[in-house]
Amino acid sequence: MTKKVALLGGSFDPIHNGHIAMAKAAIDQLEVDEVWFVLAHQAPLKEFKPTSDEHRLAMLQLVCKQHQQFKVCDLELHRQGTSYTIDTLRDLHQQYPDYQWFWILGADQQAQFEQWKDWQELLKLATFVVVDRNDHLKKDGVRKQFVMVAMHPVDVSSTQVRQGKRLNLIPKEVRQYIVDHELYLEDWVSAQMNPHRFAHSKSVAKVCMDLAKAHHLDVHKAYLTGLFHDIAKDLPKKEAEKWIQDCFPQYMEEPKAIWHGYIGSEVVRILYGIEDEQIRNAIYHHVKGLSNEPYAMMVFIADKIDPLRGYDSSALYQASMSDLALGFQKVKEENAAYLKKQNIQGV
Ligand SMILES: [Fe+2]
Ligand SMILES: [Fe+2]
Repeated sequence: MTKKVALLGGSFDPIHNGHIAMAKAAIDQLEVDEVWFVLAHQAPLKEFKPTSDEHRLAMLQLVCKQHQQFKVCDLELHRQGTSYTIDTLRDLHQQYPDYQWFWILGADQQAQFEQWKDWQELLKLATFVVVDRNDHLKKDGVRKQFVMVAMHPVDVSSTQVRQGKRLNLIPKEVRQYIVDHELYLEDWVSAQMNPHRFAHSKSVAKVCMDLAKAHHLDVHKAYLTGLFHDIAKDLPKKEAEKWIQDCFPQYMEEPKAIWHGYIGSEVVRILYGIEDEQIRNAIYHHVKGLSNEPYAMMVFIADKIDPLRGYDSSALYQASMSDLALGFQKVKEENAAYLKKQNIQGV
C-alpha cells in the first residue's frame, strides 16, 4: 500500500510541544498519512551526550499513544553508532519501496543542510520540508528545493526543558515520566538555587534515601522530598510574596524565612507535576517539623543533620536510622535548644 510519510528526526531529549506542533503542521499541510519520529541514537552534529535510548524512546511512545497518525521509527537505535539520515532513508526505501517520503527540517537544520552526509543523494530519496515561520528563511542554493510549511512557533527547546524551563510546553505524561525516572531533576533543582544550597539539597536527598531504606519506605519518594525541599528558598522576594499571596495569604504576616516550605509544596505540584501528598506535606512542614508523617519526619531530620552543616551529627543519624520517630524527637529537641541559644524563634 502506498503511503505518504513525513519523517521527523531528532534526539528528542525530551520530546516537547514544538516537535508535536511540527508533526501536526506536516499532517495538516502536506496531507501525509503519518508522521514518524525518527529517534537518533547519536545525532551527527551534536556534542552533547544524550539521555539513554530507552528513556527517550519511552517518552516518544507516550506521545505517539495520544495521536493516531504519529509513529516511532527506531531504525537508528538498532543501527547504533552515529545516526546519519542517508542510512535511514536508504533502509526505509528498501523496507517500504512504495512509500512516498518527506523529511521535516527545523529552521536551524535547514541552514546547515550542506553539512549532512551525502546531501545530494538525500534530495533524491525524500522531499525536504522546512516547518517554520515563513518570514525569516533564506531561499538560496539547495534551499530553493525545500517545501515550506508554516507553523506558529512554539517557544521551547529540549535544552530548556532539561534545565527545568518552559515545562508547561511538554506533554504532562512526559513530565511525569521525567519525574518518575529522575531524568533531569538535579538540573531542574540546581537552576533554582545557589550552588551551596544545591549541594545541601543533594546531601539531604542522600540522607533521606538512607532513612527510607532503613525504614522500608519508598526510596524514590524520599529522594524527591530531599532534593526539592528547598526549591522555593532562593525565590526572588517579589515572587515569594506573590506565591504566598496567591496560595497561603494566611501566612503573609509570618516571618519570611518559613515561607519557603509552604511555597515549595505548591511549586513542586504546579511547576514540576509532583502531586504526591506525602511528598508535598513533608516539604510543607520541613521548616518547623510539625508533621509526624514518615516522609515529613525524614526530611526534617535530614535537613537538620545534613553532614554539610559542619557539626558532628552522627549520633542523631544513628538514632534516626534505628527509630525514625525517636530520631525526629531528638532532632527537634536539639534544634529547639539551638534556636533558643541563638535567640531565634520558630524558624
Ligand atoms: Fe528549608
Ligand atoms: Fe534545607
